[in-house]
Amino acid sequence: GAPVTIDISKMEPGQLLRVAWRGKPVWVLNRTPEVLATLKTLDSQLRDPLSSQSLQPESSKNPARSIKPEVFVAVGLCTHLGCSPTFRPEIAPSDLGENWKGGFFCPCHGSWFDLAGRVYQGVPAPTNLEVPPYRYVSDTQLIIG
Ligand code: FES
Repeated sequence: GAPVTIDISKMEPGQLLRVAWRGKPVWVLNRTPEVLATLKTLDSQLRDPLSSQSLQPESSKNPARSIKPEVFVAVGLCTHLGCSPTFRPEIAPSDLGENWKGGFFCPCHGSWFDLAGRVYQGVPAPTNLEVPPYRYVSDTQLIIG
């Protein structure tokens, strides 16, 4: 599959873009400073908080799992059996409960992920969502692949 170029210059805070790359859904999420601050508080609830068992390129081996902290890029397929999780960005209090900090939910067998694609404990998905290879060609354009 050909690399995909994405223009992020018009992304709103909190917005999720969905593109296709090699027949897979890829997400680009513009995370707010509030979201980035919550990530650090979730580690004890996650299966692989440091992503040491999960797939990401070298450039995304950091706590935010991304090159620019605010822009998160992930393959939108559950690491259990490949369903596409839904975007649940609500931050508590919401109908997802007192403690939900925003993330993704896989409806197939109930796996929960945070807004860095990190999987919660006690759900079927074994690892965090995959971060695909990508790079910036300018401040506002990135290429996936
Ligand atoms: Fe997502 Fe099974 S495919 S929980």
